Amino acid sequence: MPEIRPTDDATGSAGGEIVLQAEGLSKNFAGFSAVSGVDLAVRRGTIHALIGPNGAGKTTCFNLLTKFLTPTGGVIRYMGRDITRMKPADVARLGLVRSFQISAVFPNLTVKENVRIALQRRIRGSSLDFWRSESVLHALDQDALALVEDVGLSAYAEHLAVELSYGRKRALEIATTLALKPDMLLLDEPMAGMGHEDIDRTAALIKRVSRNRTILMVEHNLSVVASLSDRITVLARGQVLSEGDYATVSTNPRVIEAYIGAGHA
Ligand SMILES: Nc1ncnc2c1ncn2[C@@H]1O[C@H](COP(=O)(O)OP(=O)(O)OP(=O)(O)O)[C@@H](O)[C@H]1O
Ligand SMILES: [Mg+2]
Repeated sequence: MPEIRPTDDATGSAGGEIVLQAEGLSKNFAGFSAVSGVDLAVRRGTIHALIGPNGAGKTTCFNLLTKFLTPTGGVIRYMGRDITRMKPADVARLGLVRSFQISAVFPNLTVKENVRIALQRRIRGSSLDFWRSESVLHALDQDALALVEDVGLSAYAEHLAVELSYGRKRALEIATTLALKPDMLLLDEPMAGMGHEDIDRTAALIKRVSRNRTILMVEHNLSVVASLSDRITVLARGQVLSEGDYATVSTNPRVIEAYIGAGHA
């Protein structure tokens, strides 16, 4: 069972304080309660998974936490700050970044160029003179290559994004997300549509990326969840059914029943 790892943050404190918190989070769609009174606390340096049978409210919850939906009720705090009414771009600036949806990969640019553009996006607003400087462009290239290496794509740095396998495209998307220097990453089904090999590679990448970051992911693949997650929140019918490590939630009779009821067993 994965243990809670210490973090590399500036204070050197062991994983512990709550980074992202939801209290009483709720969302109604035309009177239908998709998410209802969800409490969630994601702690620094952990990989936290949000799971549950089909229609449990995972995507809705994820969209609420990433600010793509506005809650009907409840409060969301990031680093103690109320972000319930903030826009996705503003929370991204605070270090809370959603991957896969937000990061655009340009198919006809190389891997390195894609990452460089993501880096430029972060520091846009600088003057034209700044961008004309040789040393700035060189430094950007170096930073881009470092990120490309971080996600294991060094051999593909000069390849067009369109030429990459599905799993490597995901790795590139992660690199463009890391270019935004997130403290916390929110991943929406990072393994969706992948074969075994890409799943293993992406799981290793997520593990590596999590070393000095906090991660919340929605994921259907339960063996991935079991091997990666420090903590798991199980949703069913819009409510929290169980929370804990994999051994705890996977043996909870209510969780087993919910999965069987939804035809997952
Ligand atoms: N925009 C919407 N309008 C109306 N109902 C919605 C909307 N989005 C989601 N729902 C309903 O809310 C419930 C939860 O949906 P949600 O997509 O969050 O579940 P999920 O856990 O992500 O499911 P899945 O495992 O199938 O992805 C479902 O009953 C769904 O039909
Ligand atoms: Mg979903």
